[in-house]
Amino acid sequence: MTEYDELEPIEKAGIDELRTLQFNRLKQSLKHAYESVPHYRRKFDEHGVHPGDLKSLADLARFPFTTKQDLRDNYPFGMFAVPMDRVVRIHASSGTTGKPTVVGYTKRDIETWSHVMARSIRAAGGRSTDKIHVAYGYGLFTGGLGAHYGGETLGAAVIPVGGGMTERQVQLINDFKPEIIMVTPSYMLAIADEFERQGLDPAASSLRIGIFGAEPWTESMRTEIEKRMGLQAIDIYGLSEVMGPGVAQECVETKDGLTIWEDHFYPEIIDPATGAVLPDGEPGELVFTALSKEALPIIRYRTRDLTRLLPGTARTMRRMDRITGRSDDMLIIRGVNVFPTQIEELLVKQEKLAPHYLIEVKREGPLDDMTVFVEMRQDLAGRLSEAERTGVEHEIQHLVKSYVGVTTRVQVLEPGKIERSQGKAKRVIDLRPKS
Ligand code: DLL
Repeated sequence: MTEYDELEPIEKAGIDELRTLQFNRLKQSLKHAYESVPHYRRKFDEHGVHPGDLKSLADLARFPFTTKQDLRDNYPFGMFAVPMDRVVRIHASSGTTGKPTVVGYTKRDIETWSHVMARSIRAAGGRSTDKIHVAYGYGLFTGGLGAHYGGETLGAAVIPVGGGMTERQVQLINDFKPEIIMVTPSYMLAIADEFERQGLDPAASSLRIGIFGAEPWTESMRTEIEKRMGLQAIDIYGLSEVMGPGVAQECVETKDGLTIWEDHFYPEIIDPATGAVLPDGEPGELVFTALSKEALPIIRYRTRDLTRLLPGTARTMRRMDRITGRSDDMLIIRGVNVFPTQIEELLVKQEKLAPHYLIEVKREGPLDDMTVFVEMRQDLAGRLSEAERTGVEHEIQHLVKSYVGVTTRVQVLEPGKIERSQGKAKRVIDLRPKS
């Protein structure tokens, strides 16, 4: 037993106690950002706000947003609020274009992060007696080391496998018999395929819990993974700019969206077009302010992730709904907004298909042309007749048209034709000329 096998007092605290803690920490964080980072001082001054103007949590809305661009403009260390001798770790996340965003941690930041990650693994059902197979990538990506430190803090036995070498992943799961796996949901599926390729039943493995995140996934994908792997599939959310994994975590007893660890991360939902703060329950863009960070204070960070805030259930703290997508991976196809997750919902329910897919968009003349590539199930390899294959393609075309509202081509491919990710899956190839 370690202290993390029990709920922490703040997880059971009442709303008033939580709000008071948040207010005090927020005041401190605004002051720290203003006094230690020239970028924040300039932005606050331009907006005519001062940390002293915060009289209630709602006053946060008067402060300016921070974006990925702000971090890029201050590349690499311009947003750090402490001298380098206090920084003990640096991570970076590469975006689709340009320079990576760089984040730093003091010793206390690493402790806070390890602490919320231990709390997350515990909320997912993990205990100090468990063995945790970490297949998130190690390195500049926060997934591997975040899970690693959290697992050790919980007191579990961490197996730092990292991403890749899928055959060996299967061997280690078979031999070491971990109860928990932490990996992206798309790579979990690739590992499940490898189990089957080796003639093993993935549902018979020792794994009891999977803690999946770092990319959008759907309820249908949860059902699929739970069935194939014979485990509880639990969602974890985070982003490097705010900390890394462990900003929000689904609780195993409810599996109803992610509890935000509000004692460290203050959430808002805004209208992405106007920036106005929306009431809880309304869908919009998630914005986070870190309440206890030292090296990289982050104020009103626009995540671009789309979701809504929900009341607490398993804990007092509010939940966020499953992320439906990022405002920047929304495709606009002939004027219709399309998220890869909408397509995924439809594909995963099809009996003959495997949940590996890729969406390609081109422009032929003036019109957008979308194709969904998806694989058939492994056991159907070479066994679907041409008519059956066309039948499935037409069925999906029809479903996409009715539920998403766009016309698409569909190509059902033989198993293994779509490149597997060993981390975050790439779901979209947009070949349209940039306007
Ligand atoms: O992906 C941190 C992480 C690692 C989270 C491992 C969970 C597990 P970044 O590389 O900075 O950090 O990417 C952050 O990934 O803004 C979301 O768009 C997406 N994302 C992360 N978790 C989820 C999730 C890590 N559970 C970006 N559902 C975020 C949907 C997610 N999207």
